[in-house]
Amino acid sequence: MPAYHLTTFGCQMNEHDSERMKGMLESLGYREATSRDQADLILFNTCSIREKADDRFIAHLQEARALKRRSPDTVIGVGGCWAQSVKHEVFTRFPYVDVAFGPGQVHKLAEFLTSDSLTAQGYFAFEGFTGDLPAKRAREFQAWVQISVGCNMSCSYCIVPSTRGREVSRDPAVLIAEIEALAADGVSEVTLLGQNVNSYGRDLAPERRLSFSELLTAVDHVSGIERIRYTSPHPKDMREDVILAHAELSAVCEHIHLPLQSGSSAVLKRMRRTYTRERYLDRVALIREHVPDCALTTDIIVGFPGETDADFRETLEVVEEVGYDGAFTFIYSPRRETEAAAMGEQVPHEVKVARMEQLVEVVQRRAQERAQRFVGRTLEVLIEGHSRTDPSRLRGRSRHNKVVNFDGLGSPGETVPVTITGASSQTLTGQMSLVARAGRS
Ligand code: 5AD
Ligand code: SF4
Repeated sequence: MPAYHLTTFGCQMNEHDSERMKGMLESLGYREATSRDQADLILFNTCSIREKADDRFIAHLQEARALKRRSPDTVIGVGGCWAQSVKHEVFTRFPYVDVAFGPGQVHKLAEFLTSDSLTAQGYFAFEGFTGDLPAKRAREFQAWVQISVGCNMSCSYCIVPSTRGREVSRDPAVLIAEIEALAADGVSEVTLLGQNVNSYGRDLAPERRLSFSELLTAVDHVSGIERIRYTSPHPKDMREDVILAHAELSAVCEHIHLPLQSGSSAVLKRMRRTYTRERYLDRVALIREHVPDCALTTDIIVGFPGETDADFRETLEVVEEVGYDGAFTFIYSPRRETEAAAMGEQVPHEVKVARMEQLVEVVQRRAQERAQRFVGRTLEVLIEGHSRTDPSRLRGRSRHNKVVNFDGLGSPGETVPVTITGASSQTLTGQMSLVARAGRS
């Protein structure tokens, strides 16, 4: 049996696509190798969102080249967003790469592997959803569900519209059938994935069209699905019906990831985010009104071209005001062929780093403060495994998407009540509540 080794970079959509690549390879008779040097097929699923992502990947690719020098029959394959973004030069810059394919072309890997042609091949036009391929899930009880691909926005900093193309939604009937099959296979938590999930369905024919909130309702009806998450929504499309779904549908979790990017309306305008600081805060107010306990997380970029000290202070103010439960913070990184990369007034690196440090300090302090609301409460925790720092304890996630390390008994996939005894900015600690558990069974 030939063996493959796959390394994944980037976002949850890439993790999803990698599970599908694995499923497809295993249906072709491949098995997963434990290390790269044991593999006949070395694969990478790449990301291009920031320059650092590119650099990290190139170092791995060079290691693969060294392995191929020792065993020349090894096949090297590169998929995902970086491959798509360098499609014109991939084989000239990296002649040892045998096959390259963009995010909408994963199935072509199978065609390449089963063909007699040994010349390098590249496949880059969108042809199909990776969500239609078989999957090999990392965990039995959790699954990614790809609801759409691509993005119709044109955020001036972002490479994704050029790597993942125009937005295309999957048919709701196909999605519901997929989720029913997942539930029958033991999945209790699904994460709906799209570059812009809440514009789901707008490209579908009227007779098949569901809005995102209608899709949430349909998924909530699938028996066995206890938790529904999704990522990422766009603040401009965060309408009341979606917010109400969090309040009214029992499986939709109390967590919304709502990317802010900047707290300055002037910067947001140059980012082409199509909302202002006020409109964003208005969405937050609506969430807090309908789902007071909802966890909120976000993405923030510092050092966007032209960002002044005053603009940056506005970002700090929004972070103070909202009090996020967590945030991913990024230093702006110019990306090829994006509008912002060509803007004047690029912010000096030292200024970006100083702003990042200040931002992280405020994010963490507010997250720590917000997390105190859980202390003393008993939360439903879905067990994922053992605590990373103390294997005698268990680790799981609350519906708010907080990692909880706790003392107790149980197996991955079980949901147990945990009384929270401590809270830091990142994690909660607690004790499984035995009384409540006995009461449930
Ligand atoms: N530089 C820095 N961060 C970026 N992101 C997207 N493009 C860039 C870039 N060029 C961030 C955004 C997005 C997250 C996935 O990555 O915050 O929401
Ligand atoms: Fe990276 Fe964005 Fe592509 Fe995800 S969609 S892999 S974050 S470039």
